[in-house]
Amino acid sequence: MNIGLAYKSLTERDFAVLRAIEEYSSRYEYVPLELIEKRTRIIEEHLMLILSKLSKLKMVKKESIAGYKSYRLTYLGHDMLALNGLVRKNVLEALGDKIGVGKESEIYIGLAPGEVKVAVKFLRIGRTSFHRTKILRTWVEEPHTSWYKQARIAAEREFKALKELSLQRALVPTPFGYDRHVVVTEYVEGVELYRRPTLENPEEVFWKAIDTLRIAYQDVGIVHSDLSEYNILVRVDDQTPLIIDWPQYVYRDHPSSMDLLRRDVEYLVKFFNKVYRVDIQIEDALKKILG
Ligand SMILES: Nc1ncnc2c1ncn2[C@@H]1O[C@H](COP(=O)(O)OP(=O)(O)OP(=O)(O)O)[C@@H](O)[C@H]1O
Ligand SMILES: [Mg+2]
Repeated sequence: MNIGLAYKSLTERDFAVLRAIEEYSSRYEYVPLELIEKRTRIIEEHLMLILSKLSKLKMVKKESIAGYKSYRLTYLGHDMLALNGLVRKNVLEALGDKIGVGKESEIYIGLAPGEVKVAVKFLRIGRTSFHRTKILRTWVEEPHTSWYKQARIAAEREFKALKELSLQRALVPTPFGYDRHVVVTEYVEGVELYRRPTLENPEEVFWKAIDTLRIAYQDVGIVHSDLSEYNILVRVDDQTPLIIDWPQYVYRDHPSSMDLLRRDVEYLVKFFNKVYRVDIQIEDALKKILG
């Protein structure tokens, strides 16, 4: 089911149950029914109805151990709590269609209060390696939550990087807020650079992107580290290049930062050279960034 529709089907009590399971999830892979009952103070008869609804909606997963029922949140369950958090913070009002799927994320269009279009990014890090994580459970600390924790950490990193970059007037989508593993930013009416949009002045677009890397390096102190034509959106109305997808940035003092920066720049130079016939030397672009 569509995440937005799923969200609308939930009541305050459903959320209370999801939150109770979340609260105990650092201590239990599957949270015993008894604890959920204690925490929510919903009588067992009602609680069972709610849990079976959440189970049908695939927001929780049930396990019975020696006759004792216990529950954990699924990724969709975590999604519901994050959306609820964003709604409560007044960052988000409605969720629309999926507009992008990456290796480790899903992007939806959404509406913020005041009919403002936003992009809602659900970080999905570790989802596909969940089973592998499970097998390693004997020696990984809190293995049942580590995959999800990674997604939360990535969301926080992405939000904070975008925030600092925006404050320094770098060309990135303006961030509006985050909750758990979900980040909300300005929606960019744009075309990904890999689609090779027709550019009136490709050289100018190139140097604008390089200037964002300069601000990131000099004023914020970070290197993107995953730059390519896939992570640049060219705004439709004025052809401004916006650099997206920041969770994997490294700090300037990271031992590999210079190699990563060079690789980022190389990708960009080669792409502009091949597609737009712009003749630029990697060293010149690097010099601009390093100052
Ligand atoms: N602010 C935004 N406005 C409009 N579209 C966006 C925005 N952010 C992301 N997108 C769309 O979603 C896609 C994926 O976004 P992003 O690169 O942040 O995620 P990702 O998980 O890294 O994807 P991948 O793994 O494929 O690189 C983008 O290519 C773009 O089409
Ligand atoms: Mg990307």
